[in-house]
Amino acid sequence: MSHDEFPTENPAVVTCGLPYANGDLHIGHLRGYIGADAFSRALETIGQETAYVCGSDMHGTPVAVNADQQGVDPEEFALEWHEQYEETFPQFNVEFDNYGHTHDETNTELTQEIVRTLDEEGYIYEKEIQVAYDPEADQYLPDRYVEGTCPYCGAKARGDECDEGCQRHLEPGEVEDPTSTITGNSAEYRERTHKFFEVSEFADFLTDFLDGLEGTSNARNQPRQWIEDGLQDWCITRDMDWGIDYPGEDGDGDDLVLYVWVDAPIEYIASSKQYSERVGTDEFDWEQVWKGDGEIMHIIGRDIIQHHTIFWPAMLEGAGYNKPRGIAATGFITINGKGLSTSRNRAIWAKEYLDEGFHPDLLRYYLTTTGGLQQDVDFSWEAFQERVNGELVGTVGNFWYRSLLFAYRNYEGTPDADVSAAVRERIEGAIGDVRESVNDYDLRGIGQAATQLAQFGNEYIQRNEPWKLTDDEPEKAAQVIRDCVQIAKAVGVLLEPITPDKAQALWEQLGEDGAVADAHLEDALEAPPRTFEEPGELFGKIEDERVAELTEKLEERVEAASDDGDESDDGETENDDTGADEAEGMTDTDDLESLSDERISFDDFQDLDVRVGRIESADGIEGADDLARLEVDIGFETRQVVAGIKQLHDLDELPGEKCVLLANMEKAELFGVESNGMILAAGEEADLLTTHGDAAVGEKIR
Ligand code: MF3
Ligand code: ZN
Repeated sequence: MSHDEFPTENPAVVTCGLPYANGDLHIGHLRGYIGADAFSRALETIGQETAYVCGSDMHGTPVAVNADQQGVDPEEFALEWHEQYEETFPQFNVEFDNYGHTHDETNTELTQEIVRTLDEEGYIYEKEIQVAYDPEADQYLPDRYVEGTCPYCGAKARGDECDEGCQRHLEPGEVEDPTSTITGNSAEYRERTHKFFEVSEFADFLTDFLDGLEGTSNARNQPRQWIEDGLQDWCITRDMDWGIDYPGEDGDGDDLVLYVWVDAPIEYIASSKQYSERVGTDEFDWEQVWKGDGEIMHIIGRDIIQHHTIFWPAMLEGAGYNKPRGIAATGFITINGKGLSTSRNRAIWAKEYLDEGFHPDLLRYYLTTTGGLQQDVDFSWEAFQERVNGELVGTVGNFWYRSLLFAYRNYEGTPDADVSAAVRERIEGAIGDVRESVNDYDLRGIGQAATQLAQFGNEYIQRNEPWKLTDDEPEKAAQVIRDCVQIAKAVGVLLEPITPDKAQALWEQLGEDGAVADAHLEDALEAPPRTFEEPGELFGKIEDERVAELTEKLEERVEAASDDGDESDDGETENDDTGADEAEGMTDTDDLESLSDERISFDDFQDLDVRVGRIESADGIEGADDLARLEVDIGFETRQVVAGIKQLHDLDELPGEKCVLLANMEKAELFGVESNGMILAAGEEADLLTTHGDAAVGEKIR
């Protein structure tokens, strides 16, 4: 099944994995929420009616275990975090159309209704199973109340997920050598009757579903493998008090609640419904989306692909609901090249970022244009500074300011002239790029379309030198500036999904009314008002001292956390991009970046044109602390490349060294120097790759 291109006639819903209401938000969460927010804003700019909904994930052991540890009631505990999240998201310009939570009435009712339907349709049965029990604590041990060994890969695992190993969902009773996380005792097994959802019945349906699924390839390929390996039915009840009661159970203490992964995704529907109820079904009809022909897009972390591509569509199908059109599974986040770890305090916290006084749009720009919806993201304050200073200050801000200032001083606003045909065409090209990027779920492409347009603007003004024309050729000067003002406006409209506040500020500088968020891409071609006020600079440079200070703070903090005694270092990489997965007792991360669980084809590999090269010269680049300009002989020609190795190598010693170069890397410009290829290096010290024999310069690596 192939889908009509966006924008379609149907309403769309974009969702993001619900954060567990159990701890502070950090950059790993923000990456997902900001990415999905930017994507839904971008859909709107191309004319797609879109609602962006989410909510807090209140139930399950991720919340209960943490609440227990603090000796508080799980409901109270979760609600407090929920309220905090509600406040935090808008601070990053993450504007949900509705943000609910899984414990509210809408979700409780809808969940019970859906489960009842699945039961009536014959997809639910009872089975006696062995569940872990802690006699000392006198309670059953679902999910995170028990730890042991993964039966599939041998890694240390939680009761319901192999979070440090193969990432598989584990069924009750599957984890080996179970111990209680309450007392540390080894668990006993007791027989209990539980409810099962017949996921195995849906294998054919799921295979077809995956064939038509848009989004990232990992969200199709992994589940195909699981289906091939054989699907198991899914235990959907737990021996706990905290959660949504299994329909018909009356809460007499020995009852079952639904497994958290049943009611959590249903919040996607419940939250859409609440939005409809608020704005009216004329404006947004949740039933059209979920039961008719709406477009559903889920943005999730790649640790929860199984829940979204197997369990969830099977539930939707079984209960007669519409299925997602696209699922994008985001990559992992590292900090200074090492796995994000909350127990080691190696994280950038949402509150911390804001307290440091940085504008949210800077982080939005960094996260979306570094990782898009799919790629891994490494965050360092240096890289953040480089991107902000280079692209937002140097390219976008610079262009906005110089063209608007020139226009204001000479014409008190937009000069009277038509936009030239060439510039109009260039802007139309950028609009086309954005439209295509949205259809490809490619956030980076959107950012690139905008910054490249600003770059074009800078070159255009530089080339035409309007300051030399104002006296002798006033008409020509007016034409150039008229063009520049239009480009400036277009860059603002294009950047709105990524940097909404800054785009709005530009909009106002241009004297435009209303909100740029309501503009469509085509508005980028409409003339701004005839007059506007004196512009100000919209982006400020981040100074080196700030970066040094922040980097040091982060390092000290990580060290202090390691000194606190939590020294175990057994390879956990913590990458809950979607949810606040903050259970205590998490072990520390390995210093190595985790292995990718995504395979690429030989063809994909062949697309990389990697060559043996020899460095001919190496110099520093003025104004850039880390960058070196290298000339590299690759047989056919000599390439100029920019590499971040200035501090890590003695540049004088590099000429003559053999190296390995990715020759078909897209070109980039850093500090005004074009980089035409990428030198390959390993690790923090940028150990340069070379060949161990005598492969000739220019040979292809295969
Ligand atoms: N809270 C879950 C996590 O952090 C995500 C739930 S997503 C939903 O892993 F699909 F269940 F909503
Ligand atoms: Zn495993």
